Amino acid sequence: MKISLIAATFAALALTTAANADDIKDGKKEFNKCKACHAIKSDTGEDIVKGGKVGPNLYGIVGKAVASTEDFKYGDGLKAVGETGMVWTPEELEVYMTDPTAWIDEKLGDTKAKSLMTHKQKKKQEEIVAFLESVVTE
Ligand code: HEC
Repeated sequence: MKISLIAATFAALALTTAANADDIKDGKKEFNKCKACHAIKSDTGEDIVKGGKVGPNLYGIVGKAVASTEDFKYGDGLKAVGETGMVWTPEELEVYMTDPTAWIDEKLGDTKAKSLMTHKQKKKQEEIVAFLESVVTE
C-alpha cells in the first residue's frame, strides 16, 4: 500500500514535469539489471538494447496491454491480469517492477499465482520508466 502511494506520487510528478535527460540517463544505467532478461527491440527490428529472452521485449511497454507480446509465454498470473484488459501506465509499471508477485496478488485478489519475474527492483523505478518511454520513436 505504501509503495502504491509512493508510486502514485511519482506518477503525478511525472505528469507535471516531463522526464529530464538526467532521469533518462539514470534509468538507462539501471536498465542494465533488466537486460539480463529483457531486450528492447523496435517494431522495425532495431536493437535498442540487446538483452536476454527470459522476459518479453519491452519496446513501447508504456500504453501497451499487459501480457500482450506475441510469442511470449506468460505465467498464469500476469496472463489473467492481461485478460482484464489492463494497459501498462507508468505508475503500474513502477509498482509492478518493485514486486511483481505482490502486484499480481493485488490485481487478482487473493491468489496463488506467482510471477515468472523474480527480480524486485527497489530503486530508480521512475527513471527506468522514463528511459523506456524515451526510446519509443513514435
Ligand atoms: C531474471 C529475469 C528478469 C529480470 C532481471 C527482469 N525481468 Fe521483467 N520479466 C521477466 C519475466 C520472466 C517476465 C514474464 C512474467 C510473467 O509472465 O509472469 C517479465 C515481465 C515483465 C513485464 C511485463 C511485460 C508485459 O508484456 O506485460 C515488465 C513491464 C517487466 N518485466 C519489466 C522489467 C524491468 C523494468 C526490469 C528491470 C528493473 C525487469 N523486468 C527485470 C524476467 C525478468
